[in-house]
Amino acid sequence: MISAKKKENGILFTLSTNNSSYQMKADKHNVLLHLFYGQRLNDADDLSDLIFLTDTGFSGNPTYAEKDRTYSLDTLPQEVSGFGVGDYRDSMVTLLHDDGSRAAEFRYDSYEIIDGSYKIDGMPALYDTSVTKGETLVITMREAASDIILKLYYGVYEKENVITRAAKLINQGTKSVHVEKLLSMNMDMMFFDPDMIYFTGRHAFERAYERIPVKHAKIEIGSVRGTSSHQYNPSFILCDHDANEEQGDCYGFCLVYSGNFVAAAQKDQKNQVRVQMGIHPEAFCYLLEQGGELMTPQVIMSYSHDGLTTLSHQYHDILRENMCRGKYKYERRPVLINNWEATYFDFNEEKLFNIAKQASELGIEMLVLDDGWFGKRDDDYSGLGDWFVNEEKLGGSLKEIGERVNEMGMKFGLWFEPEMISQDSDLYRKHPEWAIAIPNREPNRGRYQLALDMSRDDVRDYLFEQMSDILSNAPIIYVKWDLNRSICDMYSYASGKEHSGELYHKYVLGVYDLMERLLVRFPDLLLEGCSGGGGRFDAGMLYYSPQIWCSDNTDAINRLTIQYGTSFFYPIGTFGAHVSACPNHQTGRTTPFATRSDVAMSGSFGYELDLSKISDEEKAQVKHQIAQFHDLYELTHEGDYYRLTTLDYDDCIAWAFVAKDKSRAALTLVKTQSEGNPRPTHVGMRGLDKNKKYKCTIKNDTSVINSGAAFVNAGVTIPYIMEQYESAIIMFDEV
Ligand code: GLA
Repeated sequence: MISAKKKENGILFTLSTNNSSYQMKADKHNVLLHLFYGQRLNDADDLSDLIFLTDTGFSGNPTYAEKDRTYSLDTLPQEVSGFGVGDYRDSMVTLLHDDGSRAAEFRYDSYEIIDGSYKIDGMPALYDTSVTKGETLVITMREAASDIILKLYYGVYEKENVITRAAKLINQGTKSVHVEKLLSMNMDMMFFDPDMIYFTGRHAFERAYERIPVKHAKIEIGSVRGTSSHQYNPSFILCDHDANEEQGDCYGFCLVYSGNFVAAAQKDQKNQVRVQMGIHPEAFCYLLEQGGELMTPQVIMSYSHDGLTTLSHQYHDILRENMCRGKYKYERRPVLINNWEATYFDFNEEKLFNIAKQASELGIEMLVLDDGWFGKRDDDYSGLGDWFVNEEKLGGSLKEIGERVNEMGMKFGLWFEPEMISQDSDLYRKHPEWAIAIPNREPNRGRYQLALDMSRDDVRDYLFEQMSDILSNAPIIYVKWDLNRSICDMYSYASGKEHSGELYHKYVLGVYDLMERLLVRFPDLLLEGCSGGGGRFDAGMLYYSPQIWCSDNTDAINRLTIQYGTSFFYPIGTFGAHVSACPNHQTGRTTPFATRSDVAMSGSFGYELDLSKISDEEKAQVKHQIAQFHDLYELTHEGDYYRLTTLDYDDCIAWAFVAKDKSRAALTLVKTQSEGNPRPTHVGMRGLDKNKKYKCTIKNDTSVINSGAAFVNAGVTIPYIMEQYESAIIMFDEV
């Protein structure tokens, strides 16, 4: 619900969801103040009195405040922080005007309430469905001394307790202006002393959970790598110091964007917490000509008074329903086998069909042919850009291969790395200017490769044609869309130097454009996003690919940390997760076959190993695992997810899925430590209906019937000694 009420001294805006309210006020000077975000208020509430004004030394006053030395942009809690005009904290927007001045001061002009979600041209954003529909408040702000307009977008999703933000600059003047910074949001939270939780990492170890208190030194995460990155995910949480899974105020911020970003929280001199998120201003400078517009990506905010689990549920629900799209939004995605860890580049027709044959016999539903099938590509030094099948290596065309795979009863999928180019490729020899590199400077290479200039129409047309040609001439239902380097040496041969600060952003828009065009042309295509594993695991990508390869690290024990971190914002069914060989190729660790599957089953399940090298007993397990995955699919892909332990919990890590109607649940537990003379392995269950009765079945078919209250209040003990890395899936069925 959105309300706008005229008051004697301004306009009060209140956005309300079932459990949260967000209030702001355009005050008597038309400065848009942030008053509150938190637990739901009553409709008539007005929190203007929370603002406390004092004369603060060295925090100056705008001329329009006349003799009021207490009114300072430097201390007021604001929705848009300007630059260079008296707010010395971090700005949300910085403009370089035609006369060389740098100033941005936006004041309230008007508002509009729109039924439905707002759209962002060329970028993903939450959309309306028959289940969930948004409402939009657009507040128009005007720059004090130029004809620049800033529109602030607020989307409200009542039952999900989600509020979104985005902003759009419009140049209505006669002179062009350089936008040096335009974030999606600024919010100054007046009375809040939070922790910040963010997700950091590296290639093959993404989204590790970290939590630190917000103080006066800024906490800032971000990426200037051209992608959202392995190093920091574009999402974070602010929460009470004692907030945990079940209690405490928690606020989530999740950017719907797949490129450079910044996110920060910092206390100011009055202890207000300034929260910001958006496109990273580093290497960003956008020329906004007369009549030009620039819109930011969307930030999805959500609030929970009841701890982190509720916050995660709110994100999972809205991302599943209002961000993921296409046929495979709800339809079951096939259990796949990917040949990468089985063969790497070293495969031929025989090896491939050996894997395919074994896989089909075991009930695997799709073969994914990974890197190495095209151009001259027997290692990672060459071939990217030459999207022509290497028939000699494959022993036939993709059509023939696909049909043979189909005859075996499996679907067929293919790997691409569309955005990249090898210098040793026909494409590079023909179009060196299509690669991103600075003239007269040796480019930095990542995995020997360069990035294509995705801002160029001709590059995207080429890729669209090549990919369309392949996808329409072979029975391919799935594409793994990879990207294997961070991007630098920013220069485009297609645009002039005055546009050079736009390239990182236009690269991302180019990627979105190409994905969109392909999905319009092939609406049933299943895309699996990937960037060296989870280097571009973000809400923006989920708009195009309902599953994303979570990490190149397939070690079941490392995956506990990676999948734990990923679970705070992203729905579990979107995590690409595979059973791979042991000793694990990334860590050298050996874990039981069943554990690898139990962990991968909490995701978009598949296999990535040479099936001819596994034992008969393991082969029998594969059949059982696939059946079990299907049995659990509704829970893992549509149910509610509960983290039952933290990562430093005693000796195991556990999580659970509970059906929305609470009739069924599955608890997965992995023993991470073992000791001599063992103590029992015990974990508390969550999410069951305390008044229902459940039959609880533990791995080896031991079962017990008790109330939901018993399992939640007293927990579950595994009735046998668990060895290190052993796992169990415990089922709860309502009786
Ligand atoms: C990336 C992906 C892997 C695999 C290789 C192929 O690293 O994350 O899964 O596809 O590329 O080169």
